[in-house]
Amino acid sequence: MPRISPEKIQEIKSRLDPVAIVQRYIELKPSGERWSGVCPFHQETKPSFSLNAASGLFYCFGCQASGDIIDFYCQINGLEFMQGVLELAAEARVEIEGGSGDFSADRLRKSYFQMHELAQSFFTAQLTAKEGALAREYLQNRNISRETREMFGLGWSPAGWQLLKNHLLEHGYKPESGVRAGLLSKNNRGRTYDRFRSRITFPIRDLSGRVVAYGGRIVGEGEPKYLNSSESPIFKKGELLYGLFEARKHITQSKTAILTEGYADVLALFQHKFVNACGVLGTALTRTQVRRLSGLCQEVLLIFDGDRAGRQAALRSAEMILTFGLKVRVVQLPDGEDVDSFLQKFGTKGLAVLLEKSPEGLAFCLGMITHNNSPRQTMSWAIGLLKNLQDPSLLAYYLPRLAGGLGITEPELRAALKWSGSAKKEWAEPAAFKHLGTGQLERELLRFAIHCPEYRKELGKHDLGQVLQTERGKNLWTKLKDYGHEAILPHLDEGEKRFFIQSQMEWTRPADPAVLWEEVRDFLHRRQEQNTRRSLKAALDKAQQEGNETEVTRLFQEYNKLITREP
Ligand code: UTP
Ligand code: MN
Repeated sequence: MPRISPEKIQEIKSRLDPVAIVQRYIELKPSGERWSGVCPFHQETKPSFSLNAASGLFYCFGCQASGDIIDFYCQINGLEFMQGVLELAAEARVEIEGGSGDFSADRLRKSYFQMHELAQSFFTAQLTAKEGALAREYLQNRNISRETREMFGLGWSPAGWQLLKNHLLEHGYKPESGVRAGLLSKNNRGRTYDRFRSRITFPIRDLSGRVVAYGGRIVGEGEPKYLNSSESPIFKKGELLYGLFEARKHITQSKTAILTEGYADVLALFQHKFVNACGVLGTALTRTQVRRLSGLCQEVLLIFDGDRAGRQAALRSAEMILTFGLKVRVVQLPDGEDVDSFLQKFGTKGLAVLLEKSPEGLAFCLGMITHNNSPRQTMSWAIGLLKNLQDPSLLAYYLPRLAGGLGITEPELRAALKWSGSAKKEWAEPAAFKHLGTGQLERELLRFAIHCPEYRKELGKHDLGQVLQTERGKNLWTKLKDYGHEAILPHLDEGEKRFFIQSQMEWTRPADPAVLWEEVRDFLHRRQEQNTRRSLKAALDKAQQEGNETEVTRLFQEYNKLITREP
């Protein structure tokens, strides 16, 4: 195993988006710098899991799981630290110098791409071979043409359990690697086998056209209907869109993307001349996906199923796209239809008519929201939308339009927005420091040290170490001084780490650190004097007992000087 320096680890972390990574596993809702969701590490339904976007630290108020993004990745994937770092390095494209070179992040990625090339030629060959007759018949029944099939590289994974696995083995890959690449599965007895069996394979490509994963549609009986590759260093569900590689050229030309829910829907759209279509991969639309689209086009046409779930998904997606400042329109299909079935019945013209009369995104959202919700929910939705705007300049655009839609004035909406921003945990009033119990006092002081690393030197000069009385407090302070803010985590024990991270999560930086610092400094000063006075007094008592006259006189003078300074 290679040795990885703290600087390398820092580099890896700095190149990763912690929010995007965590979002692959759980839904996160933003509130300022902080994101929260349901903790993946224990059973619950409340959103006790909290992630700080800037620092990348997470903390669960329920089970106290905590750490940085590497800890998160290792814990959720059950990986050793080193393996987790290597995978994240691969993802962040940070080169790691390995002893043998075999562990280098780039090599790891390369091997995953190569396994997918092998899988791709295997699956497509199966589709045209004798064994693929059933699959070809299925595609024919669904009116998927040969041209579409080839364009999108559809294939067939036959019913066996070891076919792709053996194919990979023949080319020198270990089954374990196939599992890590997301192509094979492993049961709890440690057996590895083909993940895709009796499925039409839809290759998922990255933007350079490399196959990085598959969606597999069952043919015949079986669950689930669609199965995706598991996530891997080259495949993150929430970052890719199905068909985007194939549609990209058309999307940039028309400046418009059609976004839908299903694999088959993308193919049907393509066959009906809507060549700028792509699809989410069985999950809710993510910010990363929208960001990607926003780099390619100005407008997104959302086509979701006509049922309630489809409308809800359309609402959430439209809302998110609006926050990126893109145009959105929401195409509403008749109840019970998806794009594919609609196109089979009503053809290109039918859909063109629907597109024509589809409502604009903001109007659609306002309609849905005001129709189904109380005024309170409506306002909180509106404020949520405004707070999530990706570019502050969009505020000027949305404020009057939202206010108009809600039937209130712009200043009223602005006031509601301002008012909603103040529900943060408060810092202890520094003047009240002296009334705090030892434990709480130490926590407040250490929190200040954690939040305002720029004052650590000063805190040291003013002898914070002397004022802290518990062993735990002293230890943590020593570590805060010794290790930089960035590199401290590996040096903290469980309890310290929890405190460090929890502080960052629950508190925001004081509004004016300089003002708070002055108070802290005065407090430390007073404490220091108190301490000096106490030890002088003790020394004086001792000298008196021992009958050391000269010492008594000296100490007494000093002591007098001190107490007469007291205001
Ligand atoms: P649908 O159930 O609407 O299927 O799921 P579909 O796209 O119409 O599929 P066909 O036409 O029956 O083949 C919509 C999308 O949700 C994801 C897939 O991306 C699918 O295309 N999905 C669905 C899954 O990931 N897993 C499933 O088990 C089902
Ligand atoms: Mn369908």
